[in-house]
Amino acid sequence: MQSIRQVGICGIGQMGAAAAVCFKRAGYEVLLWARNPKKLDLVEQTLHTLETWMDLNVGPVTDSGGTIRRLQNLKTLDENADLVMDCIAEDMGQKTELFRRFPHCKARGAIFITTTSGLSITEMGRLSGCGHLLAGTHFWNPPHLMPLVEVVRGEDTPDGVIEQVCQLVKSLGKIPVKVQRDVPGFIGNRLLHALWRESINLVERGIATPEDVDLVARLTFGLRLPVIGPLENMDLVGLDLIERIHQYLLADLADNHGPSEYLTKSTSEGRLGMKSGKGFYDWQSRNPEEVVQKRDIQIVHQLSFLDQLETNLAEGKASDTNLSGPSA
Ligand SMILES: NC(=O)c1ccc[n+]([C@@H]2O[C@H](COP(=O)([O-])OP(=O)(O)OC[C@H]3O[C@@H](n4cnc5c(N)ncnc54)[C@H](O)[C@@H]3O)[C@@H](O)[C@H]2O)c1
Repeated sequence: MQSIRQVGICGIGQMGAAAAVCFKRAGYEVLLWARNPKKLDLVEQTLHTLETWMDLNVGPVTDSGGTIRRLQNLKTLDENADLVMDCIAEDMGQKTELFRRFPHCKARGAIFITTTSGLSITEMGRLSGCGHLLAGTHFWNPPHLMPLVEVVRGEDTPDGVIEQVCQLVKSLGKIPVKVQRDVPGFIGNRLLHALWRESINLVERGIATPEDVDLVARLTFGLRLPVIGPLENMDLVGLDLIERIHQYLLADLADNHGPSEYLTKSTSEGRLGMKSGKGFYDWQSRNPEEVVQKRDIQIVHQLSFLDQLETNLAEGKASDTNLSGPSA
């Protein structure tokens, strides 16, 4: 196994472009490939916007040595990359077809990583012949800001590959969390979709409006989550009380094993959310850019606050923590 300097990123949608910026800021030489030359031209502006935003809100990176080279030719990537990262469509056939196109990388023992949100790493590795070199790296959106990456082991992924991918994630300034079994949704999406299934159900049953469901999530347990995870919280509450609550509550929670009728009706009627103008909310009268900007600034502030909290706790001065957060 070789050290990683040149990182080949395939696909320049939401994840690919932002991942390129993360790798560049960490000093890697990025080879950014897209099959559509027009997109390759357009991505320059996207990269510029992302980098400027990061410089302004997270802080500039000086002399990282990182670069981004845009490529139309996958062969150049195959001949040079020490690592291949898939950021193309969430489709097993397309991802395996892509990974089959790197004979030189495979021969050199380059590492393959996939940003899949939940497809089987084992199946992807076996279908594309690179299972012994492949790990899942579930970056969260927005990838340039979210601090944690789930590193997913397929059945054929050796320990060495997992360790090297974890080191890679750390070198990006992010925290790797190992997912030891290749289960659908890994860790985060299993938790998130359990919450989303129940949220849909509350609206579907007329128990609360979408606005109120969101408000309760944001301003109750949502406020605690950055410092207390669900399991730690249960310990604080007391497992005996949790047990008693589960005796009457769980039977009433949503337990549908597929999309709910409400969701299927919405999509069949063209209510797809922000991109179609209507979902749970009416997006004609809302500004999606404002929502995304608010989300991103909140993440930057929250992370900076958590850093400061950790430092203060380590120095034994938790009460000195500046609760107003950074002045970004
Ligand atoms: N967007 C998210 O919130 C998010 C979060 C975590 C993981 N992911 C995963 O990351 C991956 C990429 O998602 P995204 O949101 O960036 O998608 P996207 O649609 O924004 O971008 C995908 C890009 O890949 C290109 N592409 C599609 N099929 C291709 C192929 N066969 N060959 C070459 N290029 C191809 C598309 O033209 C597009 O530019 C998916 O696997 C997705 O599940 C997405």
